[in-house]
Amino acid sequence: MRKKAISILGSTGSIGVNTLEVVRMHAERFSVVSLAAGNNIPLLKEQIEEFRPSFVSVADSGAASALKNAVSVNVEVGFGAEGASRAAAFDGVDMCVSAISGAAGLVPTMAAIRAGVDIALANKETLVLAGPLVMEEVRKRNVKFLPVDSEHSAVYQSMAGHRPEDIKRVILTASGGPFLRTSMADFAGITPKEALCHPKWKMGRKITIDSATLINKGLEVIEARWLFDVPPDKISVVIHPQSIVHSMVEYIDGSIMAQMGNPDMKGPIAYALSWPERIDSGTKALGLSGLSLEFLDPDPERFPCLGLAYEALKRGGTSAAVLNAADEVAVSMFLEGSLPFTGICAVIGEVMDSVGHREIRSMEDVLDADREAREAARALAARMHSSLHAK
Ligand SMILES: NC(=O)c1ccc[n+]([C@@H]2O[C@H](COP(=O)([O-])OP(=O)(O)OC[C@H]3O[C@@H](n4cnc5c(N)ncnc54)[C@H](OP(=O)(O)O)[C@@H]3O)[C@@H](O)[C@H]2O)c1
Repeated sequence: MRKKAISILGSTGSIGVNTLEVVRMHAERFSVVSLAAGNNIPLLKEQIEEFRPSFVSVADSGAASALKNAVSVNVEVGFGAEGASRAAAFDGVDMCVSAISGAAGLVPTMAAIRAGVDIALANKETLVLAGPLVMEEVRKRNVKFLPVDSEHSAVYQSMAGHRPEDIKRVILTASGGPFLRTSMADFAGITPKEALCHPKWKMGRKITIDSATLINKGLEVIEARWLFDVPPDKISVVIHPQSIVHSMVEYIDGSIMAQMGNPDMKGPIAYALSWPERIDSGTKALGLSGLSLEFLDPDPERFPCLGLAYEALKRGGTSAAVLNAADEVAVSMFLEGSLPFTGICAVIGEVMDSVGHREIRSMEDVLDADREAREAARALAARMHSSLHAK
C-alpha cells in the first residue's frame, strides 16, 4: 500500500501532537512530508528528527534561524504565512491536517485546497472566517474535506448513508466547560488559571478559554453551517457534561443518530486521516455499563457568546470574521490579565456592532475585516482595562 503523504499545520499544538501519535501508530500507512509550527523550536526539532519531513515552516525569520541552528538533519526551512502555505501544499502531499490555532490557519489551508490537497480540518476559523469562499473552492477543486473537530466528525459520521433532505436538525453537544454550575455572581472574578481547567478535554489555551465562554460552540455552529450546508435554524446546541455523545443528527422520521466514544481527539483525527476506512486510534474503549448521560439546554444568560455566533450568521458577510477576531484579541488579553472573563463577550458584542460587516467577495474582504476588528477590539479592551483600574 502506498503511504498517504501528509502535511501538518500546527504540529507542535495539541491537535498536531495527537496527529503525530496516530501517525506513529500507523507508520506503514502515513508519511510526514511537511510541518508548520510557530515558536516551539525544541518540540519541532524532536518532531523533525523523528518524522524526517522535507520541509518545515515556523512563525518568523527569527524562529527559522533558531531552528536551523538547532537541527542536525537535512530539512528545508521557511517561515510566516508563505512558509505555512508552502508546507500545506508541499510537493507530493495527499492530505493536509489544518491545526494552526486562530485566523492564521485560513491562508495556508486555502493554499492546500487550491493545490488540490485533501483537508483534515481542525482549524474551524477557516470556515468561520470564509465559509462560502472555502466551500466553493473545495467543490471546484474536488478535494476531500474531512472534519477533525469532534462534534463535526460526529455529525459527519451520523450523516453517512442518509439523504440531506431527510435531516431535521443537527445537534451539537457542548460539555458546558468549567463554569456550568458556577454562580454567575462569581463570573467577573474568574482567573485564567480557573478558566484553563477544562473538565473533559485537554486542548490548546485559546480553545480552552473559548470552551469556558461557549464561544467555541458558537464558532462550531458557524463551522457546521458551511461544512454541512445546513441553515442556522436547523443547528442547535445541547449541553452534555459527560462529553460522551460527540454530536447528533435528527431525521424527519424522529430518529436521532449519535456518535459516542471517550473524549480523545485521536478518534476524530484517525477517522479523518483514514476515511473511508477505520483504524485503531489508541482511544480507550467506552464502557457502557453504569454510563449515565445528561442533556441540558444552554442558558443564554450564562453563555451570551453563543447567541452572538447565531447573530453573526444572521448578519452574514464578514460578521463572523469580526466576531472571531474580537474573540482572539479578548482571549489573549484575558490570559495576560488585562481583561476580566466577562469582558470577553462584551468586547465581541461591541466590536461586532462598531465594525459592522460587508459582503464577502474575496479573501481580501475577509482579511481586511479581520484586521479592522482586531484594532477595534484592542482599543476597546484597553479602554475597559483603564476604566476598571481608574475605579
Ligand atoms: N485541541 C483540541 O482538542 C481541538 C479540538 C477541536 C478543534 N481544535 C481546533 O484546532 C486548532 C488548533 O487547536 P490546538 O488546541 O491544537 O491549539 P494549540 O495547542 O494552541 O496549538 C496551536 C498550533 O498552532 C501553531 N501556531 C500558532 N500560530 C501560528 C502561526 N501564526 N503560524 C504557524 N503556526 C502557528 C502553534 O505553534 P507553536 O506552539 O510552535 O507556537 C501550535 O503548533 C484550533 O483552531 C482549534 O479550535 C482543537
